[in-house]
Amino acid sequence: MQGIPQPAYYMFMCSVERPPQFPKPSCVNESNRDLHQYTAQKMMEKGIMQTVQPVQAGCLNRCNVGPVMLVEPGHHMYVQLDKAKIDRIIEEHMLGGNPVEEYIIPDMMWGEAIKPADAAAMMAGR
Ligand code: FES
Repeated sequence: MQGIPQPAYYMFMCSVERPPQFPKPSCVNESNRDLHQYTAQKMMEKGIMQTVQPVQAGCLNRCNVGPVMLVEPGHHMYVQLDKAKIDRIIEEHMLGGNPVEEYIIPDMMWGEAIKPADAAAMMAGR
């Protein structure tokens, strides 16, 4: 018996909108509020909604280069998104399997992950 297929990809799109006077920038503002809906609509048009799962996410802590979207698997963080970039990401990454390298966050803003066990040891002073 075959189970319910898991998604091939998850797209975690930051959906945080802070007030304009807030000192920290946010990914969503008046000019791009429809980006998540646009993404879902494009995926429906391409017929991939059953295997690519868009997720409205909270702050992914890269607010200065928003709007951002993390694609899993692969840990690919896309930055400064707009509709044209979404189109290419769907076409080349979701359908083609090739991440769009030029839209991915620079290495200096996306260093190696800290292993949870190492973080716990640091907190414990070990
Ligand atoms: S508000 Fe989007 S990453 Fe922080």
